[in-house]
Amino acid sequence: MKILIINGQNHLGSTYHIGKELADKIGGETKEFFLPRDFGEFCLGCTNCFVKGEENCLHYEKLKPIVEALDEADVVILTSPVYVMHTTGAMKAFLDHLGYRWMVHRPEEKMFRKQGVCISTAAGAGMKSTNKDMADSLFNWGIPKIYKYGMAVAATSWNEISEKKLAKIHKDMDRLAEDIKSNHGKVKPGIKLKGWFMLCRMIQKNGYNPKDMDYWKQKGWTEGNRPWKG
Ligand SMILES: Cc1cc2nc3c(=O)[nH]c(=O)nc-3n(C[C@H](O)[C@H](O)[C@H](O)COP(=O)(O)O)c2cc1C
Repeated sequence: MKILIINGQNHLGSTYHIGKELADKIGGETKEFFLPRDFGEFCLGCTNCFVKGEENCLHYEKLKPIVEALDEADVVILTSPVYVMHTTGAMKAFLDHLGYRWMVHRPEEKMFRKQGVCISTAAGAGMKSTNKDMADSLFNWGIPKIYKYGMAVAATSWNEISEKKLAKIHKDMDRLAEDIKSNHGKVKPGIKLKGWFMLCRMIQKNGYNPKDMDYWKQKGWTEGNRPWKG
């Protein structure tokens, strides 16, 4: 199994360790990226990606290795510590750069067979909103199976976490890794994802952005083809 971890932080703290533990327990070939170390650009708001194509983004070449790894992976793990109740700025800046892949624009069909995981840790609160920040992108990229794991570690580093909490994390990661392994190759879009796809299909039939409309037409999605088939 190919696993991709995109860490919304450079440092090897609690959040990183949980993501890495999960990847190790799933087993397979793991690629890791750290933000902003491996990609730290802010979206310039030029909208070139939407209107002209993603190759016209000023940061296209820098982003490319992560996007290629994303397309290859079976499991995509996004991690972020909670910063003021949300994901880190570095993770948000990265996700902004993939806006062109959202369902309302040009989703990549490879996404419709993957599993995604959002992992966040906080001192006390904010895991739900932080995981949602990341899960919104995974869902809109077309990933059918998304797991969210949040832990209030009551610590600012991995070494400070209590034995009791660590034991729970290890047990939770055992279970999550088993679920991911047993679902490998079997995930299919549910009613929510299919419904959202069909709504976006209607938008593209009477669309406003020729770049997106052409893409959907070429894929045959405005006719009978579906990204999760074949
Ligand atoms: C800028 C910043 C903002 C933070 N905001 C929150 C917060 O809103 N809620 C919270 O419970 N902890 C907050 N924390 C604490 C971290 O989320 C927490 O210590 C987390 O487990 C750190 O993960 P790490 O070890 O992977 O860096 C914040 C920490 C920083 C540096």
